[in-house]
Amino acid sequence: MEGDYLMDKNFFWGGATASYQCEGAWDVDDKAESMWDHYLHENGMENGDVASDHYHRFEEDIRMMKEGGQTSYRFSLSWPRIIKNKAGEINLKGIEFYHRLLDACHKHGIEPFVTIYHWDLPQYWEAEGGWLNRDVAYAFEHLAKVCFEHFGDKVRYWTTFNEPKWFIANGYFIGNYPPGLQDVQKTMIGAYHVMLASALGVRAFREGGYQGQIGIVHSYTPVNGVDDTIETKIAMRYADNYCNNWILDTAALGKFPIDLVAKLAQDYDVSFMQAEELQVIKENTVDFIGLNYYARTLVKPYTEGETQLVFNHSGKKGQSKVVIKGWFEQVKDPNSEFTAWDTEIYPKGLQDGLLEAWDRYHLPIYVTENGVGVREDVTVDQVNDDYRISFMNDHINAIMNAMDRGVDIRGYYAWASFDLYSWKNGVEKRYGLVAVDFEKGQERKPKASYYWFKDIIESHGEKIQRRAFE
Ligand code: BG6
Repeated sequence: MEGDYLMDKNFFWGGATASYQCEGAWDVDDKAESMWDHYLHENGMENGDVASDHYHRFEEDIRMMKEGGQTSYRFSLSWPRIIKNKAGEINLKGIEFYHRLLDACHKHGIEPFVTIYHWDLPQYWEAEGGWLNRDVAYAFEHLAKVCFEHFGDKVRYWTTFNEPKWFIANGYFIGNYPPGLQDVQKTMIGAYHVMLASALGVRAFREGGYQGQIGIVHSYTPVNGVDDTIETKIAMRYADNYCNNWILDTAALGKFPIDLVAKLAQDYDVSFMQAEELQVIKENTVDFIGLNYYARTLVKPYTEGETQLVFNHSGKKGQSKVVIKGWFEQVKDPNSEFTAWDTEIYPKGLQDGLLEAWDRYHLPIYVTENGVGVREDVTVDQVNDDYRISFMNDHINAIMNAMDRGVDIRGYYAWASFDLYSWKNGVEKRYGLVAVDFEKGQERKPKASYYWFKDIIESHGEKIQRRAFE
């Protein structure tokens, strides 16, 4: 096939993590409580109190990234570690921790790719209504300024938010994440405040004249339809607005999709959208987009019944269901393979999605997460995760296919750099390139995929087994 070129040597190869999922040390060095600490403790659920203990082991983790040939590390900053309270007081111990982490990256020649918010809102803000409270958007602006001011000379790649769709839909619409609500009006308000906060962060970055670039990271599920009928096309547009467009259009083009706002305005109050704030959103679009890709959304037209949003957190196949009344129904392709957590394995969706995102936004793209979550026995000398190798090969191939067609893609981050806490799925759902034995002193052991990835990176992608999808 065409395009067996090598990846540019500036292409970033790395892994990604998130503060709550890996740091542990939940109450160490004056860190405040996060909404996840609070929610999981209150409900007596498996939590990230210790997680992968990255807080104490980051030196070893970053050294292993280097030894694995990786050139960049995507991680997030913990808001409750950095800001002590609603008054916005800075916790210098938290700042010092991130300085040590950033210094370790630079010592090993690893480019830090920093997310300001990956879901761990301080509980002192959640107690004030969380993302339903407009003040939280402005508190995020303060956090962003503190981060730029303190870390601006060590970071060149920033993103405001990780996956607004996922934490807003799960927290306010589906109810499986804190604060556990199922309320459309509140979902809309939360979504609006997050997109406003993102634009305020971009504005602070531009006004401060810091080095580098700023973007946003989206949980990208490109939409396919079951057929070509007009009804299916309408359902696809609803699904695309729900899954993708309210984040990407708003962050990249500076406006919420007009048909989405019009549809919602038929049944709900949209007066929370204020003209001056919409202007901030319009004027502060991102420099690049980060796309996390796990699977696509395959839809058919809505037929009947109430909205149903069921997510599989047990790892027992066949439990998930998404029906949005009057909008669309998600269906499963009978020819596809699914994980135990009902995630479809569909690399072509990444190629399709990259082409679509490029066509719509024409901005540089980083694939900021991609991986497969499975149960693994990590007591062996080396986990032979050939399924992960094949998954990564096929998805990097999809990226290369899109690059062949002119899409400007600048990096690939495996989810995850090492095993970590997988939110409501606990630690049994493993994604890492490096195994972490949570039972046995947090011992780290590279999996086969870690060595495979090193080989791919050193070949600048040449060793990827290529294939066309059509
Ligand atoms: C992304 C998130 O949605 O997917 C990560 O950015 C998350 O934080 C990852 O862990 C995988 O999802 P899960 O629920 O399987 O951990």
